Amino acid sequence: MIKNIVVLVSGGGTNLQALIDAQERGEIKNGKITCVISSKDGAYALERAKKHNIKAMAIPRKDYPDVVSYSKKLLEVLKEENADLIVYAGFMTILDKVLTDEYVNKMMNVHPALIPSFCGKGYYGLHVHEEALKKGVKVTGATVHFVNDICDGGPIILQKAVEIKNGDTPEILQKRVMEQAEWIILPKAVSLFCEDKIKVLDDNTTVIAD
Ligand code: GAR
Repeated sequence: MIKNIVVLVSGGGTNLQALIDAQERGEIKNGKITCVISSKDGAYALERAKKHNIKAMAIPRKDYPDVVSYSKKLLEVLKEENADLIVYAGFMTILDKVLTDEYVNKMMNVHPALIPSFCGKGYYGLHVHEEALKKGVKVTGATVHFVNDICDGGPIILQKAVEIKNGDTPEILQKRVMEQAEWIILPKAVSLFCEDKIKVLDDNTTVIAD
């Protein structure tokens, strides 16, 4: 059975675009992006979905008093959409256990650093790259991992390293990490999931080779 992929977004949606492009090239095997949900009204990611005739909706976080009520609403919609895989692609909202416990090892997130470096609460978007530059690390990268109730703490699926160069700004580094890592490993992890090639034992994953 082809798996239904629901993508959660909050902003520009370049990772969503990478998924759409991979899908159109036939690189998402055994899966289809069926719906895109944004936590913010007017996110450009929603336009990207509409341009490719993918169902798109905003469920704004600000319309809900707390994270539990927001998570319950999302859970309801994800059930309606028959989601088999939920992908956080620049999704900036932490969700409650009421949701994450329903989709254990069925939700994945792309994080713009090599976890366990530069991750956890407060490490999102450009801040991650600011911190990497502040620390002076020479290598950073991106990680795709399963989501659990610990922020950026779930089992790691794929990682890719990216070099830091002299004179990098957070913006330059963010772009390099996206181009050389995120936009490659996110579609790859999604396809591997849809082909049932990711096995999870305790907190570790194994990718089954072809
Ligand atoms: C990406 O770099 C993504 O890894 C990061 O935000 C950016 C979103 O860009 N996500 C996080 O920091 C989540 N903790 P996009 O909207 O263009 O995909």
